[in-house]
Amino acid sequence: MCGIVGYTGFREAYPILIEGLSMLEYRGYDSAGIAMINDQGLSVHKDKGKVDHLRSITNQICQGGPKIGIAHTRWATHGAPSLINSHPHCDQNNKIALVHNGIIENYARLKDKLIDDGIRFSSETDSEVLAQLIGIYYEDDLEMAVRRALLEVVGTFGIAVVAHDNPTEIIGARKGSPLVVGVGENEMLIASDASAIVRHTKKVIYLKDNNIIKLRPDQYSVTTLDNHKINAEIHNIEWDADSLAKGGFEHFMLKEIFEQPETIENAMRGRLLISEGTSRLDGLNLVLQELRGIQRIIFVACGTSWHAALVGEFMIEDIAGIPVEVEYASEFRYRNPIIDSHTLVFVISQSGETADTLAALREASHKGATVLGICNVVGSTIARETHGGVYLHAGPEIGVASTKAFTSQLTVLSLLTLLLGRMRRISHSDGVTIATALSKIPEKVRQILKQNDHIRSIAEIYAKHNNFLYLGRSYNFPVALEGALKLKEISYVHAEGYPAAEMKHGPIALIDKDMPSVILALKDAVYDKVISNIQEVNARGGSVIAIASEGDTNIQKYARHVIYIPETIAMLSPLLAVIPLQLLAYHIAAIRGCEIDQPRNLAKSVTVE
Ligand code: AGP
Repeated sequence: MCGIVGYTGFREAYPILIEGLSMLEYRGYDSAGIAMINDQGLSVHKDKGKVDHLRSITNQICQGGPKIGIAHTRWATHGAPSLINSHPHCDQNNKIALVHNGIIENYARLKDKLIDDGIRFSSETDSEVLAQLIGIYYEDDLEMAVRRALLEVVGTFGIAVVAHDNPTEIIGARKGSPLVVGVGENEMLIASDASAIVRHTKKVIYLKDNNIIKLRPDQYSVTTLDNHKINAEIHNIEWDADSLAKGGFEHFMLKEIFEQPETIENAMRGRLLISEGTSRLDGLNLVLQELRGIQRIIFVACGTSWHAALVGEFMIEDIAGIPVEVEYASEFRYRNPIIDSHTLVFVISQSGETADTLAALREASHKGATVLGICNVVGSTIARETHGGVYLHAGPEIGVASTKAFTSQLTVLSLLTLLLGRMRRISHSDGVTIATALSKIPEKVRQILKQNDHIRSIAEIYAKHNNFLYLGRSYNFPVALEGALKLKEISYVHAEGYPAAEMKHGPIALIDKDMPSVILALKDAVYDKVISNIQEVNARGGSVIAIASEGDTNIQKYARHVIYIPETIAMLSPLLAVIPLQLLAYHIAAIRGCEIDQPRNLAKSVTVE
């Protein structure tokens, strides 16, 4: 989950590397470092802390210098955040420097052997083992040394390596951790993702597992680990560097919450066929007859994407009548799931790099399943390894707490439901009703966003509370889970999401005046039941913040605070109901002074198991 960036070319490397690290900081931010090659050999600077700290300690000494370097921002796995554990790591003779994202699983055994051979280690990391191995093998051919070392390690890696006596060459390699190469005019970049590259070039190569790349300013070559030449395809990045800026918002998370009317629109553009009451999802790469034959769907995902999958389950079972199972990717990968030839597997992932989801994808593929993806990041590993799928087109999501990707996932799942539903259960007119309601969602989201100040005033009342309960039923039970996850991720406040009726089977014991409940109480089939749940909370002295349907004045009798959202059909209500919960979490975190875009212990893209 660390961020890597490297540069070789005709420009000064330092500003490019530091700026690149800032773009990648969402991947990890407990320490940062940089290695460049100058006349004296390797010059390495690193420390515990964020990229800004690295900038402050290197600004004076690194300017005006080398035209090659590698840099890293870390999310600790082996060894606490500290100066010695920060990357880049060098071999004991300072011949090479390496930055690494991933985990070397057999590092302990390799380290013991190297220590027996007299190698001195200076960190507690698994990565240093790889640096030492490369250093041992390096004489004058860095690519060969990297290849030899990689053949000895077990685990995952995205690496960039430079040598003290080679001021033009970077070697990169990947297995399980993403790496993308930017191909410029007389300059090359390498990074964990395109956000660190797009300001310099839009031409990129997505490295595949077991690929090694040799970069020089004016050339590159790609080979496999066992040294077969590869013709790598060059892709064009379709989004702008501008989409990586905060655009006047205080945090990326807030900007991304406010982008949702557009991102939802983008997810349905060209796909929603209102007059036909269906949708068109060409990327699935399945002909309609194949889709008709599906008897069961399995959704596999983690975190927020898993919550979206739960909503998808409700939608597809309700509208298309196909049985759906929703699996945590981390569990699915180690089970022995039953997947027959009529089962379709969907993996859902914003980043397209989540290690557990990727492993689940591979497990389903090994079982012969057709595996489709619902992904945001174009060219990501999951997008490339699935047999087909649907992109979210939400643009880069930088805030660690996923917001716009969630609503885009729900939009794509609604389109999928419409497509499957029209083939099986619902009439043309029902299809038109759903499609029309979906087309109106962006405008309704805009209306909810106008209540930002109202939601902030509620946040002010509750920002000091340390426990929250989130309750919802039916389609909005997953929204309760998502609301609770948002709050705990960015404000470090304990929050539990529950099906509203399940509360009385345990969590009700927690309710008192200090534990507010956020309750989704929309005018739908379970409205009266939810009102009863609200009364149960009131009876125990708890206070209720209700998310309610516009025009429902009755709810004011039961809830201390009400946030109204426009009405829509039940299956689409999560797309609206989640918006106030995102804002509530955001404002509580902001009032508590938390680091919203980079919450402690988290990383945007979880590329370790
Ligand atoms: C969301 O706010 C979280 N940061 C996290 O749960 C995330 O959704 C999860 O790690 C899955 O990520 P993915 O969608 O990129 O696979």
